[in-house]
Amino acid sequence: MIGLIEMFARPLLRMLDPEDAHRLAIHALKFPPYVKLVADDPRLAVRAFGLNFPNPLGMAAGFDKHAEVPDALLKLGFGFVEVGTVTPAPQSGNPRPRVFRLPRDRGVINRLGFNSEGAAAVLRRLAARANAGGIVGVNIGANKESTDRIADYVRLIETFAPVVSYFSVNISSPNTPGLRELQQARMFDDLLARVMDARARMSREAGTTPVLIKIAPDLTLNELDDLVGGARRHRVDGMIIGNTTLARPPGLRDQATASEAGGLSGRPLFALATRMLAETYVRVEGAFPLIGVGGIDSGETALAKIRAGACLIQLYSALVFHGLRLVAGIKSELSDALRRDGHAGIDELVGADAAAMTAEKWPT
Ligand SMILES: Cc1cc2nc3c(=O)[nH]c(=O)nc-3n(C[C@H](O)[C@H](O)[C@H](O)COP(=O)(O)O)c2cc1C
Repeated sequence: MIGLIEMFARPLLRMLDPEDAHRLAIHALKFPPYVKLVADDPRLAVRAFGLNFPNPLGMAAGFDKHAEVPDALLKLGFGFVEVGTVTPAPQSGNPRPRVFRLPRDRGVINRLGFNSEGAAAVLRRLAARANAGGIVGVNIGANKESTDRIADYVRLIETFAPVVSYFSVNISSPNTPGLRELQQARMFDDLLARVMDARARMSREAGTTPVLIKIAPDLTLNELDDLVGGARRHRVDGMIIGNTTLARPPGLRDQATASEAGGLSGRPLFALATRMLAETYVRVEGAFPLIGVGGIDSGETALAKIRAGACLIQLYSALVFHGLRLVAGIKSELSDALRRDGHAGIDELVGADAAAMTAEKWPT
């Protein structure tokens, strides 16, 4: 059924402006077709941050920014959904056009700039489904005009702790001027102190909600040393590697579009993001789990992320080119790979290639 609808809808969607196509996809998901739920292969189950994931494949932040369709996405087979980025006050983001496809490169460039309906609207939706089950995390960010950005994160932790499975603290969007400065050692330390304190205060009424930090793939290795050191000191629950890149790898074929300002995602991001994941994994030394994201578009790329150090993975851009059928496809390829090589679960492969990858030439 999904296949049939997609076969007709996808060519049409691709004729539209990417943002209009995305709006249409969200509306369609509000009336999802009947899907017979198939239980996931038990080998795909992952336990991380105290949560039980039925499978390791999550919807990355940015697709369901306002928490309109998390349950439809879970029903379509994602093991978890990250809604957001949500900012405290509503804001409209940058002027359109602000999302661009690079079809020949299987990439996307966006400079949305945290368009958000704001915390109150998103809280209403998440509260209404809080007892529905399934793992739904919220990605949080600061308002563009905020004078105390860390206070924005604290406020969002206080707002959402009772209704979400985890927090993703987004300090890596390239489209809010100055936001990535929160990744600098002193600012990062201050941010973590206040965020972890807010989480501890909320734990009395909401239980302990895991806090994950989402970082950029554009860091130097010295910056990564500082970030991992800070994250370990403050005992965060995990890291997500990573966000979109400001880099433009040589050899991009959609050259005209490649010069658009914004963060690049999809296939051209895969090598860099996977290398940064491996570099993070060797520095974390098992202190907390990692989510790998950036350029996953097949079972093979999903497996490569796991072998680089991720126990959970997320994707977004590949859906633009391959549609939602990709979710079932990746899961079945992962299952097949585990069965073929006699592995009982994902955890047996996490980080298997990390050390070797960090010795390779830096990817371009
Ligand atoms: C259109 C678009 C919007 C995005 N919005 C967000 C966002 O609001 N917050 C965030 O943390 N990441 C956002 N991302 C980044 C994705 O979550 C992900 O980190 C990145 O795209 C790499 O994964 P991919 O190659 O599978 O797309 C966005 C990505 C795209 C393409």
